[in-house]
Amino acid sequence: MSRKKLIVGNWKMNGLLAQVAEVGAIDKVAAAHPGVETGLCLPATLIHPARVSARSIFIGAQDCHMADSGAHTGCLSAAMLKEAGADSCIVGHSERRTDQHESDDDVAAKALAARRNDLNIILCVGESEAQRDAGHAEAVVSDQLLASLPDGAAAQWLSVAYEPIWAIGTGRTPTMEEVTRMHRSLRDALRSRIGDEADAMRILYGGSMNGANAADLLAIADVDGGLVGGASLTAEKFAPIIQAAAASG
Ligand code: PGA
Repeated sequence: MSRKKLIVGNWKMNGLLAQVAEVGAIDKVAAAHPGVETGLCLPATLIHPARVSARSIFIGAQDCHMADSGAHTGCLSAAMLKEAGADSCIVGHSERRTDQHESDDDVAAKALAARRNDLNIILCVGESEAQRDAGHAEAVVSDQLLASLPDGAAAQWLSVAYEPIWAIGTGRTPTMEEVTRMHRSLRDALRSRIGDEADAMRILYGGSMNGANAADLLAIADVDGGLVGGASLTAEKFAPIIQAAAASG
């Protein structure tokens, strides 16, 4: 099954209005590689200006509330993000699971809220270093995926991002063999829940992906793209990853 490569930048809490010019530069790189689906998940404050200037990339948010409205000071609903111009939303990033104590149930509820409001979803899962050292990485991450996956998940609107927590922002990555095993086991876990739809669902790798390692990671059979933090902040760093995805077919 051939799955179109998906490369998503996650700007986290980085970027002021001045950086919308960088979104434009990334948009130009994406326009030159139509065989790759490229997007940027931005701080909420940049979604609207980025949407207005971008033509070839999709714009995403990094989180949404599970409710559509209500007394939740400081939170943003999926409907608000959609109205601002988002097409997609990350849910379950490990920084939110840790900093905001989000549970698998919370993540599944957020994914459903995003779906109700016509946002595509990038659902993140990943193990801690202690869990990997204990030899439990694949079991832990598959369990996390199945517990966070919203009912009725379909490849058209949901992608999974495998992000080992210890690889995020550290410059460290798992070995190619570890990534191969993990992605295969995640595809098997998906198949146990959604049957053949699992073959169409994209499973991204995230955690210190950069221009130097992207080609190798994207060549792995079950790696269908990347979720990229630090190396997505400038067109100069992000372009080689988009190019590697294009070359990997
Ligand atoms: P990183 O972040 O590429 O900076 O490691 C990836 C992520 O957290 O999505």
